Amino acid sequence: MLKICIFLLIFNQLVIFAAWGANLQCDKISNIERFDCFPEYGSNQVECERRGCCWSPPIGHKKLTNDMDTPYCFFPKDFPNYSVVDKQTQSNTLTYTIEKQNSTFRPNEILKLQVKITFDTKTRLRVQITDPSKHRFQVPIFNREFKAYPKLNNIDETDYQIYINDNPFYIKIIRKSNGKAIFDSSVAPLIYADQYIQFSTRLINNIFYGIGEHQDSLSHEATWNRYTFWNRDIAPTINTNLYGTHPFYMSLDKQSNAMGFYLLNSNGMDINVNPTPALTFITIGGIVDFYVYLGPSPSDVIAQHTELIGRSQMPQYFTLGFHLCRWGYFTSDKLYDVIKRNRAIGIPYDVQWTDIDAMSERLDWTYDKQNFTLLPEIVRDLHEHGQYYVNIIDPAISNTPNYYPYESGVKQNVFIKQFDKDEPLIGVVWPGTTAFPDFTNPNTTQWWLEQASNFYDIIKYDGLWIDMNEPSNFVDGSINGCLGDRYDEPPYVPRVLGGALNSRTVCASSQQYLSSHYNLHNMYGHFEAIATYHALRSIQKNKRPFILTRSSFGGTGQYAAHWSGDNRATWEDLYYSIPNMLSFNMFGISQVGSDICGFSGDTSEELCVRWMQLGSFYPFMRNHNDDVSKDQDPAVFSKVAQDIMKKALMTRYALLPYFYNLFYKSNQFGETVVRPLFFEFPNDLETHEIDRQFLVGPALLVTPVLNQGEEKVNGYFPNETWYDYKSGDELKLTKGEYLTLEAPITDTNVHVRGGHIIPYQHPSQTTKQSRKNPFGLLVALKQNATSKFALGSMYWDDGESLDSIDTKNYNYFNFLANENGLIGKRVVYGYESRMILSDLKVYGLDKTSVSQVLIDGQFYDNFDYDSDKHVLRIKFFNVNMLLKDTFDIIWS
Ligand code: NOJ
Repeated sequence: MLKICIFLLIFNQLVIFAAWGANLQCDKISNIERFDCFPEYGSNQVECERRGCCWSPPIGHKKLTNDMDTPYCFFPKDFPNYSVVDKQTQSNTLTYTIEKQNSTFRPNEILKLQVKITFDTKTRLRVQITDPSKHRFQVPIFNREFKAYPKLNNIDETDYQIYINDNPFYIKIIRKSNGKAIFDSSVAPLIYADQYIQFSTRLINNIFYGIGEHQDSLSHEATWNRYTFWNRDIAPTINTNLYGTHPFYMSLDKQSNAMGFYLLNSNGMDINVNPTPALTFITIGGIVDFYVYLGPSPSDVIAQHTELIGRSQMPQYFTLGFHLCRWGYFTSDKLYDVIKRNRAIGIPYDVQWTDIDAMSERLDWTYDKQNFTLLPEIVRDLHEHGQYYVNIIDPAISNTPNYYPYESGVKQNVFIKQFDKDEPLIGVVWPGTTAFPDFTNPNTTQWWLEQASNFYDIIKYDGLWIDMNEPSNFVDGSINGCLGDRYDEPPYVPRVLGGALNSRTVCASSQQYLSSHYNLHNMYGHFEAIATYHALRSIQKNKRPFILTRSSFGGTGQYAAHWSGDNRATWEDLYYSIPNMLSFNMFGISQVGSDICGFSGDTSEELCVRWMQLGSFYPFMRNHNDDVSKDQDPAVFSKVAQDIMKKALMTRYALLPYFYNLFYKSNQFGETVVRPLFFEFPNDLETHEIDRQFLVGPALLVTPVLNQGEEKVNGYFPNETWYDYKSGDELKLTKGEYLTLEAPITDTNVHVRGGHIIPYQHPSQTTKQSRKNPFGLLVALKQNATSKFALGSMYWDDGESLDSIDTKNYNYFNFLANENGLIGKRVVYGYESRMILSDLKVYGLDKTSVSQVLIDGQFYDNFDYDSDKHVLRIKFFNVNMLLKDTFDIIWS
């Protein structure tokens, strides 16, 4: 037996080497240059060679490892490819016709293609590859302001240059400033079939970012790996397709120039990572349509990307407060208790939510009149206390008899249809059998508005939480299965969880107004967010809609906030919340956070305290958990824990004017609200992979404790002036350094960056109250050899009107300080409000003493200078310091 095995093994190797040797174009391809010719399961030599590809064990490998490793089957150098047969140039576009002689192995290859390159702006270009003979599905561009950016007049003004190789066809996009290719498809062939499109690009570095939604670290290393995109309801798990689709990546070259890439395609997709380093995009439909951004800074790349897909919405102010939620209050008595006990301990708390247990029979747009009798009263009570209420809505609509949303929906023809029938496709979600609204149909927007406004007549909700919108389905496809056609079972299925496109969602073959679900699946939640946005706009009149969506696509940030779904009450998930929120800020959804204290599993007091501390720096802060875990609202913990949580929340509420200004900048200029360290310090290579610390805006560095039992934390501090946020103590650095800091459970390490002025406001229990409180300014002087300085700004409006920015109903102030004083300057004053400045803190004022302070030329004596800590504090009693008045303060 053993002999036979050895013989087979040797024979097998001989065959392999014979095949390998026979095809010279397979030779000299190192492991890392192999591009997978058999990305499906079951790669084998016979099939591989039938595909015209090379088969050999990886050089140096002894045995087959897992499938995310060096492929055995890979493209030869001379694999048939397209070549250019025609070129046209027209103002800012280049159009090429490319052809290939024969089909290879994918069914329905398209042999003649059109390549259109548009010089979009100075720092952005677009490449589209289409079938000139037949229309293929294309993702509509969703940016509401899309026409706003200036188009390029002269293509020579660009920061990039295009090189097209005729035969074989490939594209290189070159950064003019250093001659480096930032996109280079020469590494592997283009394959373009009806349901299988593949192209590759060499990466400029072996580290890249983005590619979501996935449970992963912030930076990704170019090792054998795969990311799958097919929106899916599943607790965040590594190597699994999750709720949203964002085929966007960013990378930095060796000189720290950043570039970005966005594939505008909504079909099921795999992005394979090769250590070349390179990425291979495999999509099962649509067209090749991608944008390349030139940066050159990471923030520039995001501004260029969000200019295209649409920028993050300006939130209502209250939505930046603390949100409390859980699935499983089960009765309105319990809900009321929770509200009261958290008010009683005095925690800052703006929004109370309810989940599906407050619905009647889990039916959308209803509440349970038996178990949640008090809900209308509770909502009134919340409003009387200056608090807000948000409720959940799932897209799936029960088809139970006499249920108005269903019956009216059928009449108005709003539901997704089964492929070959004029009947709604029926699946199963929380209420039992359900139909799925087709939000691409304009009728649906109208019908959705009607449901939302009928419910608003009963309960005055302040925002809507749209969940389960991948869309999630508890049966595969439908209760009647699926058609099993080329959409349900395409020739190539990306590595989706469950192995099939219809796994826990509706049939890919089902029909929607705009196209097949096959093409639209990854945008289902996005279209629902748009419809919900329009409904809320019309119901709540001139208010900015507040929507929280689980599923998302490029551009969703214009309509909704996002949370990271069903995480677990573990330390690991506490950490994953950081890369998730940083990545979503890159995808143009600034208002993002994770379920604080963990969604599933019982949390512990220590974990929940640490999570509330970290969560108080999330752009969206909500504590939420499932129906079977223990209560985790702040009031259930010990007095010590409550006090720590309260302190964390007080800090957040104090910092809300700073956050709000960041949201304004995100909305107007595409800046991120939270950002990785490398965004601010791209030249410091040490920052490039840091995701256990992050920045809020440019100026606050958060170094949270992410491990159980730890009371010290190690963090990296780039070479910059950093002050402890609370005490003003300066970190003494001579270069970028790792430091171990004390991190008792009572506090979070937050450092303010020199050179910045942070506006804050005295906190209260709600933002309705805190917005009336006086403001303060924290001046963190940058220590420079020649001078010390700090700059800051502040946006302020009524916190809710939709058109505040367009109608200039806002205020904007600039602040400028140095070691001798501070100037406050009003830039816009369109929103009349009494904004009092009550105190000022100056960190890093290195003087032996400060003996006098002058405010607008008048002596003022209510100040205190600590010459050991180099901190000056001024309290403005008895002086009428209003932010609207330009003022100057001088100290000496
Ligand atoms: C799934 C959501 O992700 C979760 O947050 C929610 O509590 C449940 N659905 C129940 O509605």
